[in-house]
Amino acid sequence: MTTLLAIESSCDDTAVAIVRNGRTVLASGVASQVETHEQYGGVIPELAARSHVAAINPLIDQVLKQADLSFPQIDGFTATLGPGLIGSLLVGGSTAKALSLAFNKPFYGVNHLYAHVASNYLESDLEPPFLCLLVSGGHTQLIEVSSYQRMEVLGQTLDDAVGEAYDKVARLMGLPFPGGPYLDKLAAEGNPAAYPLPEAQVSGRYDFSFSGLKTATLRLHERLLAEYGEPLPQQVLADLAASFQQTVVNTLLKKMLRCARERQLGAMTVAGGVSANKGLRQGVQALGEKHGLRVFIPKMAYCTDNAAMVGASAFFNPITDAIDYDVFSRAHSA
Ligand code: KG4
Ligand code: ZN
Repeated sequence: MTTLLAIESSCDDTAVAIVRNGRTVLASGVASQVETHEQYGGVIPELAARSHVAAINPLIDQVLKQADLSFPQIDGFTATLGPGLIGSLLVGGSTAKALSLAFNKPFYGVNHLYAHVASNYLESDLEPPFLCLLVSGGHTQLIEVSSYQRMEVLGQTLDDAVGEAYDKVARLMGLPFPGGPYLDKLAAEGNPAAYPLPEAQVSGRYDFSFSGLKTATLRLHERLLAEYGEPLPQQVLADLAASFQQTVVNTLLKKMLRCARERQLGAMTVAGGVSANKGLRQGVQALGEKHGLRVFIPKMAYCTDNAAMVGASAFFNPITDAIDYDVFSRAHSA
C-alpha cells in the first residue's frame, strides 16, 4: 500500500491531496484564488505565487487532518513541476521536496499534463490502452495512452486551446472570469442551431484549430449588437453560447471518434479543465454508447486543477528525477 501526499500549484489554485495506490482519494483540498485575479480578468503570476505561499501550509494540515493521518504515515511526497507559472510551481515543488527531505521519504516530480490524464484513474478501474482528449486552458491534445508510462500526442491545436477560446468568447460576451463555466451554463438555456458557425478544416488528421471559430463568433456578436443593441437580450446571448458550444463539441467528438477507430482503442477518456463542460461530457457519453466504446470522465472536482490527479500520476509513473517538461510537444513533433 502506497500513500502519497500530493501538491499542485502550477497556476492559480493551491491544491493538496492524499492518494492511496493511485486510485483512492483519502483527502483532497483546493484553495482557489479566483477572487484575487478576477478583478484583473486574468491570472497575475506574482499574486498567484504569493497566494500559494500563504495557502500551502494550512492546506497541508487541513488535508492530513481530513485523512486522519500524520506525516510519518506518508510514504512519499509529490508535486507538479511543470509546465506552469514558475513562481507558482516553485512553491509546491519546494514544499514537497522539503517534506521529503525532512521525513526521509521519496519525492516524485509530476508533469501537469500527465497528471490531467491520470485523473481518469481516480476512483475508477481504467487501465491502458485508451484514448485521452486533454482539454484545458493551455492545451488541446488527443493522446494515445498505451501504458501507464507511455503516452503519445497524436494531434493537437494549431492555435488556441479550447479553454482559451471559451474564455475569450466569454469575455467578449461580458461574462465573468474565467468564462468557460459561465458560457457552459448559459449554453444550456440556448438553441444550438440558432447560429451556424464554421468548423475549422485542418490538414493534420487529428489536429484542431479554434482561432477561426473564435473570430467568427466575434463577428457574429458584432452583428447581433448592431441588430439588437447593447446589452444583448438574454435569449440571444444564450443562443450564441449554445451555438459556439455545439460547434466546439462537434469538432472535438469527430476527431476523437476518428482517432479511437483508426488506432483501435476501445476506451475514450476526457481530462483537463474543459472536461467539466456539460455539453462535452454528454457528447462523449453519447458517442461511446453509439459506437460501443467505453467512456471514462473524471468527477467534476478532478477535471479542473487538483492535487489528487498528481498523486495518481506519481503512483503510476514515479519519476524521481527532474521532470521532462517538454515531453508532450516533442512527442508530437517527432
Ligand atoms: O485544467 P485547468 O483547470 O487549468 C489549466 O491547466 O489550463 O483548465 C482551465 C480552463 C479554463 O479555460 C476554464 O475556462 C475552462 O478550463 N473550463 C471550462 C469549464 N470549466 C472550466 N470550459 C468550458 N466549460 C466548463 N464547464
Ligand atoms: Zn490544468
